[in-house]
Amino acid sequence: MRIVVTGGAGYIGAHVVLALRRDGHDVAVIDDLSTGTPDRLTDDTPLFVCSVLDTERVAENLRAHGCELVVHVAAKKAVEQSVAEPLMYYRENVIGMHSVLSAMAQAGVGKILFSSSAAVYGAPTGDLVDEQAVTAPASPYGWTKLMCEQMIRDVAAATALDWVALRYFNVAGAADPALADRGENNLIPRVFRAICSGVPPQIFGDEYPTRDGTCIRDYIHVADVADAHAAAVRGMSSGAPSAIYNIGTGSGTSVLEVMHTARRITGRDFDWDVRPPRAGDSPAVVADAAKIRAGLGWQSRHDLDDIVGSAWQSWSSRSEIPVAR
Ligand code: WQD
Repeated sequence: MRIVVTGGAGYIGAHVVLALRRDGHDVAVIDDLSTGTPDRLTDDTPLFVCSVLDTERVAENLRAHGCELVVHVAAKKAVEQSVAEPLMYYRENVIGMHSVLSAMAQAGVGKILFSSSAAVYGAPTGDLVDEQAVTAPASPYGWTKLMCEQMIRDVAAATALDWVALRYFNVAGAADPALADRGENNLIPRVFRAICSGVPPQIFGDEYPTRDGTCIRDYIHVADVADAHAAAVRGMSSGAPSAIYNIGTGSGTSVLEVMHTARRITGRDFDWDVRPPRAGDSPAVVADAAKIRAGLGWQSRHDLDDIVGSAWQSWSSRSEIPVAR
């Protein structure tokens, strides 16, 4: 298929582009390069530099590529930042979604694969979260993703739009050091930045009702997340029904377990600082990923060592980060 990936020059988007190209699709990218970088793309991947908020330009670019399906990844995704700057998040993520759906209608594109998030669940109860779980976002970021899902459902009810929404759990790792997450928001890159800078990484709270007192999350390799997109596109091109799917491994890892894994894999005998709990954090958020396995035949293939090891490769090879003495 002829596919356009918004946010395709970003950390997750670039992995999705790679997986779709490997599946034989003709992929182009729309990205405003606010956080994405062209060096994450191959020279033969068309890159349209524009904001998803520029509806006319997006429609023009969709038509130029002969787009049949949009993978909408472009969004802001830092939970704490969304609390501090809610209007920016509603503009970029919700008005951005409105703009993409409007551009698709103008360009006659009838299929969308949406990058949603486990953040829509907020603080779930129970061990595993399935797609029927209550959605009660605990941050403006989570609300933006839930509102986008609803916007898609309503447009699909009024038109012939086909859609799939993938609710990512905690994405980490890298298929290639050049594609690594260079952000500063999530646990694993923050741990590596700290130890490479010679300062102890931080644990936000160690008195949660979990097996070791620290928060538990479902860390999923970004290559598995990208493969889930390829599986969803295969499903959509063969008439699978519109649906929401969790993208996770189904097993949880605590922050403390991540620290011990990072010590073992990096060979750095670093200590950490336990800090007060972070507002809005849930004790445990772990996916029930049975639905996508049954519906699209996808399941995760990488474990935590693969995730931490592949992420570390991009850090240990960096020259600009001081090596801890
Ligand atoms: C993970 C755990 C922190 C940093 C994110 C976003 C969003 C979504 C899900 C896609 C938490 C703890 C963190 C640190 C720490 N993915 N932590 N020290 O908050 O689970 O959610 O992933 O949409 O990206 O919602 O991810 O990596 O910020 O935190 O102790 O320096 O690590 O308290 O328990 P989070 P995170």
